[in-house]
Amino acid sequence: MARRKYVVGNWKMNGVSAALADAQAIFAGAEARPAVDVALCPPFTLVGAMVAAAPAGAAVGGQDCHSAASGAFTGSVAAAMLADIGARVVIVGHSERRDGFGESDADVRAKAEAGLGAGLSVILCVGEPRDVRESGGAIDHVLAQVAGSVPDDFDPHRLAIAYEPIWAIGTGLVPTVADVAAMHGAIRGALAARFGDAAADMRILYGGSVNGENAAELLGTDDVDGALVGGASLTAAKFLPIVEAAAAL
Ligand code: PGA
Repeated sequence: MARRKYVVGNWKMNGVSAALADAQAIFAGAEARPAVDVALCPPFTLVGAMVAAAPAGAAVGGQDCHSAASGAFTGSVAAAMLADIGARVVIVGHSERRDGFGESDADVRAKAEAGLGAGLSVILCVGEPRDVRESGGAIDHVLAQVAGSVPDDFDPHRLAIAYEPIWAIGTGLVPTVADVAAMHGAIRGALAARFGDAAADMRILYGGSVNGENAAELLGTDDVDGALVGGASLTAAKFLPIVEAAAAL
């Protein structure tokens, strides 16, 4: 069966209660395009309120979780706590966590396992820095992250990989379609080598400066099953054209 397109908004550290109106507008627009799966990941402080404000069944998620179920981890949030307030999704391994907070592949894998264990769907991010891209090592770098951070045992429908070249995040730069296709194909190949037929059910999203103008081309690329969107996910006016581009494919 064909993989459904998946468009996920990552609000990062943006948004207070007033932004719930934007989320409502986004989910209302998404309901009109039922062929596309849409999720929004606001800051933790808005997750519960967004679940309450969104239509029933809308997918709201966290941007991170701790790998432990509970304990003395000041400031952290467990995957089961996200699930408890109605989240259905969690992003793990975003480069802003890997680089900004020193998270290793092993940490990311443990967080992915925690998210899956709590019943959440997981979006697991990988991506290379600019110098690695320029030296020709991007595919090796990303496949090592995939090998080190993707768990061994999971429902393939509940774990998506997001390929996010770090130099493309928030910069307006995007890789060529050929480079995106090569990377997504390489990731699919690595997943198939490890998981067999289940790899065909796993979605591989592209992230990094996706917007309403470039979405159709990126989303139409082989093995691109959706998008992880930062800046353009904060308003319906910017986000819904991306959902629409996915629906048109
Ligand atoms: P961007 O962020 O769309 O603002 O480039 C993408 C991301 O970091 O997930």
